[in-house]
Amino acid sequence: MAFVPHTPKPSLTIRGFALYQELILPDAQAAMAKDLRELVAAAPLFSPETRWGKKMSVQMTSAGKYGWYSDRRGYRYERRHPSGSAWPPIPAAILELWHQVTGLDRAPDCCLLNLYRGAAKMGLHQDRDEADFSFPVVSVSLGDDGLFRIGNTERGGKTESIWLRSGDVMVMGGEARLTYHGLDRTRPGSSSLLQGGGRINLTLRVVD
Ligand code: SIN
Ligand code: MN
Repeated sequence: MAFVPHTPKPSLTIRGFALYQELILPDAQAAMAKDLRELVAAAPLFSPETRWGKKMSVQMTSAGKYGWYSDRRGYRYERRHPSGSAWPPIPAAILELWHQVTGLDRAPDCCLLNLYRGAAKMGLHQDRDEADFSFPVVSVSLGDDGLFRIGNTERGGKTESIWLRSGDVMVMGGEARLTYHGLDRTRPGSSSLLQGGGRINLTLRVVD
């Protein structure tokens, strides 16, 4: 068993975001980091442009049936990496984690990998490029700490922030599925998990 040997309960729930702190044990984090190095070797990282033509500060790639992509034509899912190759399969341990925390038989269609290095961040946004919002999004944090900000289902209003640490898993379902969220900054050097440093966030999504 790669994770805690029981059905987990969230250690914290904020505005419907269910957080399982350090659910992924250190050995399993190291194994996952190795799987992700192989994933990145097969599907190299790239920095997409937003629809306004600005380069995103994170580097990204994907695994699964679809990968998330952005350029001046907008946000969407693509069946192929920009190189033209199909996306590699989602690593088995990551699929196992999805089934464990969601209790769903349905597998995710996409595992988006975001790499934050240096001053990389992600502005407040909703995840809304998927067909069915009744499926949750599962987020996995590996490497450096990241300051995650949670807003509201409409733009604006008061926000709350929480530091996400390596091994934390968050389930964004129900009211949280369409809640604005983002990543203000990381604490570079706070973890030695990833070769070359930085923070990886994985998000697992059902797309179709
Ligand atoms: C995202 O919502 O796309 C990223 C969140 C994170 O990096 O924790
Ligand atoms: Mn998101």
